[in-house]
Amino acid sequence: MKPTLSELLSTRRILVCCGAGGVGKTTTATGLALAAAREGRRVLALTIDPSKRLAETLGVERNLKAPVSLPEERLRQAGIEPPGSLETWMLDPQLIASGVVRRLAPSPESAERLMNNRIYKGVSGMVAGMQEYTAMQALYDFVQEDRYDLVILDTPPSRNALDFLDGPRRLSRFFDGRIFQLFVPSEEQGFVQRAASSLISRVLSAVFGEETFGDLQEFFNAFATIFTQLTRNASQMGEFLADPEGVAFLLVTSPSPAALTDAFFFRKKTEEMNLPFRAFILNRSQAYDLDRVYPTADLLGPAPSPAALSGLAKLQELADLEVAQVKRDQKLLRQLGEKAGDQAMAMALPNLTGGANDIASLLKIANVLVSS
Ligand SMILES: Nc1ncnc2c1ncn2[C@@H]1O[C@H](COP(=O)(O)OP(=O)(O)O)[C@@H](O)[C@H]1O
Ligand SMILES: [Mg+2]
Repeated sequence: MKPTLSELLSTRRILVCCGAGGVGKTTTATGLALAAAREGRRVLALTIDPSKRLAETLGVERNLKAPVSLPEERLRQAGIEPPGSLETWMLDPQLIASGVVRRLAPSPESAERLMNNRIYKGVSGMVAGMQEYTAMQALYDFVQEDRYDLVILDTPPSRNALDFLDGPRRLSRFFDGRIFQLFVPSEEQGFVQRAASSLISRVLSAVFGEETFGDLQEFFNAFATIFTQLTRNASQMGEFLADPEGVAFLLVTSPSPAALTDAFFFRKKTEEMNLPFRAFILNRSQAYDLDRVYPTADLLGPAPSPAALSGLAKLQELADLEVAQVKRDQKLLRQLGEKAGDQAMAMALPNLTGGANDIASLLKIANVLVSS
């Protein structure tokens, strides 16, 4: 059975919009959020890197402590009324990471010490998978809270769509790494290992200098408990995102060959990881049928002027180009449909002139999303 997006919006608790950078994840996530809220659900859109204009439309700002509602007048414009609601929160990975540290550190002092540690400051934004991990953490927290019927997660801008799925694994690989183990005091470590690590300590401080080495050791000590907890959380979240009754993964792609290769790979990966993949969304494409009318000679009436004829010829050339693109995109859509498997669908979104940053164009996107 292939559920429609409209069915997913009314039955799931979490939708995750994945895709390579710039394909339209944030736009699609917002369109879905509007559609669900209009149907009466209490929706939270966890958004990342919205364009400045989109952030203004949603009334959201960076570093807010809690989600904010869509401004009154836009709620009305979008046809959202109680019990439906739409709130947005702009994820700031750095901010969530500090939240996680505060919560998991053994004491508030140790949390503060860690966040002021030079190594932590450098590493927290850099560690592979940290952004993805923090996005999932925020998602997890909001879903536990029960204030929303549906949480839609827009994912961090990444080179390819897979980075998001791989985030927690890359993170735990980093934390499990040999180097990390050397610094973590462990009760299971025997004398020889401790001796070895103190030898290593001496070598490292000789190499890096006492001060940096001290920072390193403090960093690893303070983060030891947090690391363990993070890895445990990451695997719990993996399970929680695999629930086919509650969660749906959507992959947004553009018609470009690179984005498509990515999309197919993502599809394969979700299958391997047993994640509920439910739709390919081919954004900014010509596959979406807009009742196209093409210019023909009878539009000109009897005895057209030479200028009108030449204008018509030019229009027809452009129309031919568009027809070729429509065919190409429709073929892509069919291919996506075939790759989607028997539980997922493929659908197309039009390319709106002037972008999709205001309520009117986002509503157009929302309407197309729920109509297929
Ligand atoms: N279907 C569309 N029609 C017109 N403009 C679009 C469409 N989808 C996205 N855009 C525009 O493309 C830009 C990138 O979209 P965005 O959703 O931020 O991508 P991503 O989140 O994947 O990086 C934005 O300026 C957005 O308004
Ligand atoms: Mg985005």
